[in-house]
Amino acid sequence: MQLFICENKQQLGERAAGILATQIQKKPDSVLGLATGSSPVETYRCLVGMCRAGTLSFRDVVTYNLDEYVGLDAAHEQSYAYFMRTHLFEHVDIDPANIHIPNGTAPDAHAECTRYTEALAGVEGGLDIQLLGVGLNGHIGFNEPDDVFTPDTHVVTLDDSTIEANARFFASPDDVPRYAITMGVRPIMYAKQVLVLLSGAAKAPILRDALRGPVTPEVPASLLQLHPRVTLVVDREAASLL
Ligand code: F6R
Repeated sequence: MQLFICENKQQLGERAAGILATQIQKKPDSVLGLATGSSPVETYRCLVGMCRAGTLSFRDVVTYNLDEYVGLDAAHEQSYAYFMRTHLFEHVDIDPANIHIPNGTAPDAHAECTRYTEALAGVEGGLDIQLLGVGLNGHIGFNEPDDVFTPDTHVVTLDDSTIEANARFFASPDDVPRYAITMGVRPIMYAKQVLVLLSGAAKAPILRDALRGPVTPEVPASLLQLHPRVTLVVDREAASLL
């Protein structure tokens, strides 16, 4: 496991974008697993800057997002499809056919999970790199604390703590969807590299538990202890309890 401790969010974003850009430059048809939330915002901003400067191209890149809220369509401002469009995809030269995000308004959410699982299973050799944030409760994607790890894409009931944490993006906690579709842990663990971003003092306890505590589905991010190639990019506050 590699650990980079950065001074601030900007440095964190630059470091993470540098890792992703190196991957894309080395293999222009890289398959990336992508995350939403506040952690990767600066990273995406840096990647957009590189594309605008002509030093990076997404022309042959393929992406799979981790998750999507059930009930929000791609036009909804809080959907993850909207987030990805506005933070990254509409600013880079990616082929829209290469973008994959679970469909939160599929008529049959379970059939949508099967479709997404099969699409991921078709990624030969696994994702080249999986970008992750970590929830305050240790979730990765929306794999919430549980008794077991769920390998494949599934519908999840969001934890009260997740609803509370994400309420900042909605008019009120009542507007936060109760369900989401999330990639399971299999594609994350089969990814050739996992790049994890955490910032802020609030993330310090969960980072400590994930890295130093037992591997348990009660702290889903603890599973990353078993991944052979994890790169953590964090700020000083998040690293303060290590
Ligand atoms: C987002 C996702 C989540 C977030 C996590 C951290 O696609 O899957 O696991 O990465 O909730 O969110 P932030 O970055 O907002 O602290």
